[in-house]
Amino acid sequence: MSNPTLIEEFERAGQGHVFAFYNELAPAARQALLAEATEIDLAEVAELTRTLLAKGASTGLDLVGLAPAPYERRPENGGDSSAWASAKMAGEAALRAGRVAAFTVAGGQGTRLGYDGPKGTFPVTPIKRKTLFQVFAEKIRAAGVRYGRPLHWFIMTSHANHVATETFFKDHGYFGLAPTQVHFFRQGRMPAVTPEGKILLETKGSIAMSPDGHGGSLRALDRSGALDLMEKEGIDILSYFQVDNPLVRGIDPTFIGWHVLRGSEMSSKMVAKAYAGEKVGHFCAQNGRTVVIEYSDLPKSYQEEVDPATGVLRYIAGSIAIHVLDTKFIRRMARGSDSLPFHRADKKIPTIDASGNPVKPDKANGVKFEMFVFDALPFARNPVVIETRREDDFSPVKNAEGLDSPKTCSDDQLRQFVRWFATNGAAVPADATGLPPFAIEVSPLFGYDEDSFAEAWSKISPKPAVSAGLYLE
Ligand code: UTP
Repeated sequence: MSNPTLIEEFERAGQGHVFAFYNELAPAARQALLAEATEIDLAEVAELTRTLLAKGASTGLDLVGLAPAPYERRPENGGDSSAWASAKMAGEAALRAGRVAAFTVAGGQGTRLGYDGPKGTFPVTPIKRKTLFQVFAEKIRAAGVRYGRPLHWFIMTSHANHVATETFFKDHGYFGLAPTQVHFFRQGRMPAVTPEGKILLETKGSIAMSPDGHGGSLRALDRSGALDLMEKEGIDILSYFQVDNPLVRGIDPTFIGWHVLRGSEMSSKMVAKAYAGEKVGHFCAQNGRTVVIEYSDLPKSYQEEVDPATGVLRYIAGSIAIHVLDTKFIRRMARGSDSLPFHRADKKIPTIDASGNPVKPDKANGVKFEMFVFDALPFARNPVVIETRREDDFSPVKNAEGLDSPKTCSDDQLRQFVRWFATNGAAVPADATGLPPFAIEVSPLFGYDEDSFAEAWSKISPKPAVSAGLYLE
């Protein structure tokens, strides 16, 4: 069966080559190609070709009026401790009122880790080898018990990993969460194009499509019906985190409270950059707005600039991709006149030549389009950025080895457990970096942050010796 209208639309848009092999395809393959084609917004592709690909398209970043973004310092760094205490109370109240849901973006391709499967199914804890999904599930479950309101959890997948992700949760009994509380939805896709804006085919019967970036989550939350469900459930606060960071306080009452008390539409956590050239986004202020500028876009001179009065880096606030979002704001970004910009990434994209033979490029031959969630910040009312301690919130698994790897992440979990024990009177031997000479593990169901750990630890008697292999649940 053909679909003249759709094919004609592609022809009119100068993209008719997408159907060059259509007549050779079996009926099911034709249907599959048409289905992919309907996902594409041809006007959007044309606009991106004009704005991002055309010769003379602006590439450089506008640095006029750029300054470091203000942020709320933690009390130990000079912040107002009573404001932090009020924030915590406000966040706890929001949690008890059932206004909060957790949101994990898990649609990435995890290329750097080189792991075959959804990244959330990667094992990360030191002893039990719990997967990322299990760690988050247990934190969310424990927070639900703590605040007397089971939390809904929204998980954004990609076309490539959706089924595997859902199956993984089913196979593991949703890690003790009610299946009705866990919601999966696919993110959108964008076609890869040549540098001239022609859509690339992956095979004769399929388009080279790729996920539209974590910023695609705002559209996908709307399109999937997730926002409607939240509205029905009385949820107006979404706690956003990424699938690769098991240390994250996914449900952090203090962060939520800052967001609520400030009437913020989108809030963020920052950590002080570890060194000038650290590869993180930088929170900046520009024309009265908060923006995040990627390390790759911010000139080195800015990254290294030091405040002469304090000797501290001026652009110190690094983004760790943890946000709280207002659901009405998400709807507005998804549907309104404000929308996230796309970024171009030049990539090697397997494709076919004019005769239909496969081409495996050895250098970038095409462009992918992606949106970044932090690009929503300039559109948000009263955005607030708060400081957090890196060791309490951020240790992602990005690479197979070295920096941000399974090893560094497991070590950071161990250090966190050691700190929790130490603050509660159970000293654990550790080296100068806080790392113990043996593995221990605390289940999030026992304690998932300082407060919940302290409470649970105070209740057990006699206390177990904190030695090699201790697992608390
Ligand atoms: P990364 O930027 O680390 O990308 O994603 P990645 O695809 O996981 O890994 P690499 O770059 O291929 O090695 C940061 C977070 O954003 C999510 C990822 O799942 C991760 O939680 N993400 C990224 C999406 O959900 N969708 C995307 O299109 C991109």
